[in-house]
Amino acid sequence: MADAPVLEVRGIKVGYGPIKAIRDCSLDVAAGETVAVVGANGAGKTTLLRAISRMLPLEAGEIRFAGQSVAGRRTHLLARDGLLHVPEGRGVMPNLSVWENIRISWEVRPTEIAFEAALQRVFERFPRLAERRMQRAGTLSGGEQQMLALARAIANPPRLLLLDEPSLGLSPIMIAEAYKALRQFQADGMTILLVEQNVHAALRFAQRAYILKQGEIVAQGTGEGLLADPDMLKHYLGSK
Ligand SMILES: Nc1ncnc2c1ncn2[C@@H]1O[C@H](COP(=O)(O)OP(=O)(O)O)[C@@H](O)[C@H]1O
Ligand SMILES: [Mg+2]
Repeated sequence: MADAPVLEVRGIKVGYGPIKAIRDCSLDVAAGETVAVVGANGAGKTTLLRAISRMLPLEAGEIRFAGQSVAGRRTHLLARDGLLHVPEGRGVMPNLSVWENIRISWEVRPTEIAFEAALQRVFERFPRLAERRMQRAGTLSGGEQQMLALARAIANPPRLLLLDEPSLGLSPIMIAEAYKALRQFQADGMTILLVEQNVHAALRFAQRAYILKQGEIVAQGTGEGLLADPDMLKHYLGSK
């Protein structure tokens, strides 16, 4: 029998009082799979990820992580169980050094990997961070902060990485760098769910993808298959 998906989202609804941000959303992410949810600004992408990591309550439906419902589980305990959420805006600690940020990511859940070994792995993957190890994270460029955010997933590899708009606010060169790092994560077999407004970058990267429009999943397919249907993308996303 195949293993249960790492993540199962079934018919969820999530709102902010009267605002129905997620009206009907179901998706799966299998172990080792890289899945994208793409949608316009305001489609509900951030709300979806916040519901998965229990920062927002569900009004209906169910979410299962590693075979167990997340209902009633606290965000920080999900993190301990291997759910790593890199939020919109990166979530690095601006007043701490690069080194201290990596230390916090390593400490978030128990691991066999010694901190020195974790640090070495991070610096091999992201040499720029090694050069800046004593620098306060808030003084890094946007691209470097994104690399530091991604480094969290190397310092202590998660069972599921949730990534909110890794390309937001970055130059084209830094977007390419961020996706290069993500392709290495993919090659390592990491399980990833990312949400993006940058439809093309996300679809080129993801094995499978869902299109979210006004809180509803309206289409799904392989990244490649969706990219090959520009009329459909334009219809749902208004993009070229
Ligand atoms: N804290 C909030 N309070 C009220 N409405 C919100 C809040 N956050 C988001 N929304 C609304 O929920 C909808 C989805 O937002 P969001 O999940 O941030 O979309 P996306 O990440 O796709 O841009 C939007 O209509 C947005 O205005
Ligand atoms: Mg968002």
